[in-house]
Amino acid sequence: MLVTGGAGFIGSNFLNAAVPRAPERAFVNVDKLTYAANLSNLRALQGAANYRLERADIADRPQLEAVFERHRPVLVVHFAAETHVDRSILEPDAFIRTNVVGTFNLLEAFKRWSASQPGALFHHVSTDEVYGSLGDSGRFSESSPYDPSSPYSASKAGSDHLVRAYARTYGLPVKITNCSNNYGPYQFPEKLIPLMIINALARKSLPVYGRGLNVRDWLHVADHCEAIWAVIEHGEIGATYNIGGSNELRNLEVVQLVCDLVAEQLRERPEALRELITFVQDRPGHDLRYAIDAGRVGRECGWTPARTFTAGLRETVAWYLANAAWVDEVRSGEYQRWLSANYAARPNAS
Ligand code: NAD
Ligand code: DAU
Repeated sequence: MLVTGGAGFIGSNFLNAAVPRAPERAFVNVDKLTYAANLSNLRALQGAANYRLERADIADRPQLEAVFERHRPVLVVHFAAETHVDRSILEPDAFIRTNVVGTFNLLEAFKRWSASQPGALFHHVSTDEVYGSLGDSGRFSESSPYDPSSPYSASKAGSDHLVRAYARTYGLPVKITNCSNNYGPYQFPEKLIPLMIINALARKSLPVYGRGLNVRDWLHVADHCEAIWAVIEHGEIGATYNIGGSNELRNLEVVQLVCDLVAEQLRERPEALRELITFVQDRPGHDLRYAIDAGRVGRECGWTPARTFTAGLRETVAWYLANAAWVDEVRSGEYQRWLSANYAARPNAS
């Protein structure tokens, strides 16, 4: 199985669960090792006979073709992407290169080296952001029209269209999953939940965009990884499955809960942490609300999420507290550069 982006947040959670669970399969992790990757996420796999890393850029066609020629994978699970919406607003180039051109290269390599093998499958991991924003009611289904708002979501929409076009034109065996917001261990602290945990621990301000009224649907990363397995094993070839936690919360509610759970674990008063919440200038093109109808993946693949949000978030806060060395390691120069690029230009909203 060739897994792209396996050193990132979701990819490493996927490999950490999958490699020991399927010793009969060989796993090849193809990762460029960008700022978002961290090989220490994969420490548990060191020495595993059925795992190896190939450092390669999916946007570099010859590099990728060489990897395919060496391994001729039957199954490709494609996680690799530039993933942070705010970065796509300030620095969009890499999003087009990796998410659009990289996916195109992968489809070409898969067509050439893998697609005719028995049992071949290209599983494309995508996002609910391709559907754009909901108003106060309704949920995204697999037939919702595409209406992306940010360069990130437009690049993921482009990648989804390429995958479907390759299925229709060349008959490639593909599946697509579009998932809502993930949280859990090993998430790079540019994303809302780990940023708030780390800032709360450091008694730094907790920057909430706008008035914190935007709604996201949150799903623990382990539940997302289980859903991907379920679709690989039971999903229909050529189909799309939406994945979500049925767990909609306003951003302000999420940040308040993070404060409460950090305070609980430090045995402190939550009020002192909640006082760190600062409303800052909103994200341009900020989607108001995401919500997912995950009925199809439940009916056809037998998947439902196993964790409640409060239990999953409590576990996640405990993980960041217990892994201070991991946090220190990712607070590199690049992380500091990003914090000042994104937040210095974002004055307080009030
Ligand atoms: P991440 O940013 O944590 O990790 C991305 C990984 O891809 C890193 O290991 C990085 O080194 C690698 N990568 C980036 N560019 C590459 C390139 N050109 N060649 C090879 N490798 C490259 O991402 P994530 O949050 O783990 O997301 C994984 C996938 O899941 C993405 O496709 C994303 O769109 C999708 N997704 C994420 C979420 C979420 O909430 N994080 C939700 C739904 C879907
Ligand atoms: O919906 C799935 C998507 O979820 C994935 O496809 C993306 O890769 C992933 O990054 C995530 O996108 P979001 O933009 O929703 O995630 P982020 O953690 O950046 O922000 C979550 C919400 O919190 C969003 O409404 C913006 C807000 N926010 C974010 C940051 C970083 C803040 O209010 N303050 C912040 O500092």
